[in-house]
Amino acid sequence: MRKKWMTAGMAAMLALAAAGCGTSGGSGNSAGSGGSGGNGVKIGLSFGDLQLERWHHDEQYFTDYVKANSKDQVLVQDANGDSSTQVSQCENLISQGVKVLVIVPQDGTALTQVVNDANRSGVKVIAYDRMIVNAKPDLYVSFDNVKVGELQAQYLTKVAPKGKYVLIEGSPTDNNAYMFYQGQMNVLQPLIDKGDIQVVFKQFTPNWSTENALNEMEDALTKTHNQVDAVLDANDSTALGVIQALKQQHLAGKVPVTGQDADLANCQLIEQGLQTMTVYKPIKQEAEAAAKAAIELGNGQMPQTTATTNNKTINVPSILLTPIAVTKDNMMSTVVKDGFHTEAEVKSTSSQ
Ligand code: BGC
Repeated sequence: MRKKWMTAGMAAMLALAAAGCGTSGGSGNSAGSGGSGGNGVKIGLSFGDLQLERWHHDEQYFTDYVKANSKDQVLVQDANGDSSTQVSQCENLISQGVKVLVIVPQDGTALTQVVNDANRSGVKVIAYDRMIVNAKPDLYVSFDNVKVGELQAQYLTKVAPKGKYVLIEGSPTDNNAYMFYQGQMNVLQPLIDKGDIQVVFKQFTPNWSTENALNEMEDALTKTHNQVDAVLDANDSTALGVIQALKQQHLAGKVPVTGQDADLANCQLIEQGLQTMTVYKPIKQEAEAAAKAAIELGNGQMPQTTATTNNKTINVPSILLTPIAVTKDNMMSTVVKDGFHTEAEVKSTSSQ
């Protein structure tokens, strides 16, 4: 079963690549005809890891927006989950003359030197989706990530108000993982204090990987002799592993499981009653906000921001968007209505 699901994930990626959004490790030339004057500038877009479905959406929306609204060129890099590769790819982009560097950090603490070098060279830095700490990025574009964790825990405590909880958290190198956890605990702590909820297992999941989450959940089920009432799971890639482990014990569909990203396979699992909810973050809004900001920074303008976020060094001017809880009940009016997936796609099992 596990193999089948892994293969399905790869199939989804291939489908996305075939649709023209799977560039990785190379450079995408986005010369366009709209917007800003002159010949445009180079914008570097560095992904820590393009493997998961959601980042392909980010890449496509970002490059499409830049192409339609400027003459700028987007150079895309994928570090394949290796933070030292990401550091050298970013240094390389700076030496290629990018004016703006948009970074999804694999490790939020590993890019200090890159941001310092960018600052010194007059290259503007946008921390995209994930914060870069101990450095001075010019802008942070993301969702309200504490709210993501709150939405997950609010929904889960509604369907499982009492009992034994397993917490499968995100990657320990991703600043977002701690924000999701913080939001979850905002909701859970009072119920833990009251004695309604017991956390029987908690683990952060390296690289947000399905396989690591599967192992963690198997471990949780063994340690608790399958006495688990709910799984507070941080995102959809890890939820795939959790649901696989539950299936092995004939518990899938009986134990509620949360997620995040509205990945296609997970929307299908929600339709089938095997995953309880996901958090949909309209990635188009996020990618287009970052692309617009990158064009502006490249033109010497400061984008409009809505907040600031402390990254342990400065308060980084921020654009923070609103996440949405998605269940079977509102799948059509959110994910499908936005065209993120079609109704036929979410109702099939093609990605599993
Ligand atoms: C993102 C999530 C994503 C996770 C794994 C987080 O930083 O905010 O949307 O599921 O990384 O890629």
